Amino acid sequence: MALPSQVSPPQVALSDVAPSAVVGADVVAVPVLADPSTDGATADAGSPGVTLGPGAAELVDDLGEDLFALLDLANATGKVGEVVERAVLDAGGLANPDLRLVLLVGVGDGSPGALRKAGAALARAVKGRSTVATSLAALSDDAGLRALVEGLVLGSYEFHWRSDGPQKLPVERVVLAGMGDPKGRKPALDRALAVAGASWTSRTLALVPANEKTPEWLAEQAVEAGERAGLKVTVWDEKKLAAEGFGGIVGVGQASANPPRLVRLDYKPRKGARNAKHVVLVGKGITFDTGGLSIKPKEAMAPMKRDMTGAGVVLAVMGALADVDCPVRVTGLLPLAENSVSGNALRPGDVIQHYGGRTSEVTNTDAEGRLVMADALAYAVAELSPDVLVDVATLTGAMKIALGQRTGGFFATDDALASSLRAASLAAGEPLWRMPLVADYEDRLASPVADADNAPKGPGGAIHAALFLKHFTGGLPWAHLDVASVGDSPVDELEYTKGATGFGSRALLHWLELREPLDGVVPAGKSG
Ligand code: BES
Ligand code: MN
Ligand code: ZN
Repeated sequence: MALPSQVSPPQVALSDVAPSAVVGADVVAVPVLADPSTDGATADAGSPGVTLGPGAAELVDDLGEDLFALLDLANATGKVGEVVERAVLDAGGLANPDLRLVLLVGVGDGSPGALRKAGAALARAVKGRSTVATSLAALSDDAGLRALVEGLVLGSYEFHWRSDGPQKLPVERVVLAGMGDPKGRKPALDRALAVAGASWTSRTLALVPANEKTPEWLAEQAVEAGERAGLKVTVWDEKKLAAEGFGGIVGVGQASANPPRLVRLDYKPRKGARNAKHVVLVGKGITFDTGGLSIKPKEAMAPMKRDMTGAGVVLAVMGALADVDCPVRVTGLLPLAENSVSGNALRPGDVIQHYGGRTSEVTNTDAEGRLVMADALAYAVAELSPDVLVDVATLTGAMKIALGQRTGGFFATDDALASSLRAASLAAGEPLWRMPLVADYEDRLASPVADADNAPKGPGGAIHAALFLKHFTGGLPWAHLDVASVGDSPVDELEYTKGATGFGSRALLHWLELREPLDGVVPAGKSG
């Protein structure tokens, strides 16, 4: 049984003509701007201050219809994501005889964040259509254009494994109309498509069920994606992992009929590779997390096919680095294992030895993510001596309790790295909030028999996990993204389709596309 073919993201093109003049479009969408003085909140007395944006005048002329009266009738406020619909019954005499539907889309204050939401709302309103011509980006700068396109693409997202095909199809084509300088805006559009495409890929990887998505399957995806992107790819199988001392990956994976893997992907920038700084990205790749013998209750276990979100994010990011012209060397490491139960499972109390020799007492087999991440981090330090380490993991339920489901948490040992990541996350629409590496909690990691206990008791679980990992980072500048809070969207909302979010791909790419992602980072051994 193979995964059926999936829907594709919409094609997006730029045009300098007005949206109503795009022949062949069955939908035209123009922006409605909220009156800043009313904050788009009230519309009791009609629609005070609501303004129609670019493209509307041409549309009014063409249709011969008062669109303001329509907004009035609908009590439109222009608040972001609001969509007023008007069917076109007879397009015979119009500039575009294919027009069937006019959408007036609220863009709030027109900021990039608002445009991302508006793009997603538009994408949902045009599912199943063929072409939408829209002037939503006509007034925006490149940041706004990128956010709009990210919203348009990601709001279209669908995944299915139905015998009769997907239930909904994304709109096939989007024409960003009324763009003054289409050629000049093309690089921004291409970046947006690369970043949104990476998000799309990481969502799909997270949604593939674990009966298909074994560590071996995920490693094959990495090989294929790596080859497509011109990366060097290396895969360790279970024998090689055991022979080289990857005790965390082997231990966590040993109960499963689907043996573990480690994947390494190497990216070099086109220019100046020799002097370029080196970043290592590590992504947690638990293809299913039963909890092991410390088994999860059924409600908590049900979504655990997504416990490889970090690995999917790193895989997707690696595949898009060339498209965003990333200027630094990047190595992606994906420790892949299924945390299962069998007569050969890790037991509470077992001691394992990680790559490089450090030992862990496994007091809870459900704290498995840190065990596989530790091996990959130790390997990176010993074999790659990077300038910066960044890991992404659905690591702790505690992070979800701390931050809720729309903000990811991260820890960092370097302030410049922290502020670059934070800024990139905000620009990308994947907000990350910095958490403290509380040194006073360090004692809680103590084990009576090993170098550390993998599951310290008491509150502060996300911090304990981060402190556990820190021992494997060799004192290098390091950031740890705990995306357990945001791996899953409970509803269709913002640019998310209910289900996996692929959270982290956009933030990491917005960081790695900077001209100097490591600007201000204090090299290892140079601090204090
Ligand atoms: N994969 C889970 C964390 C998780 C929870 C991800 C909810 C996504 C949503 C992780 O392996 C885990 O089970 N963590 C334990 C750690 C504990 C045993 C110390 C947790 O958070 O309960
Ligand atoms: Mn677990
Ligand atoms: Zn897990």
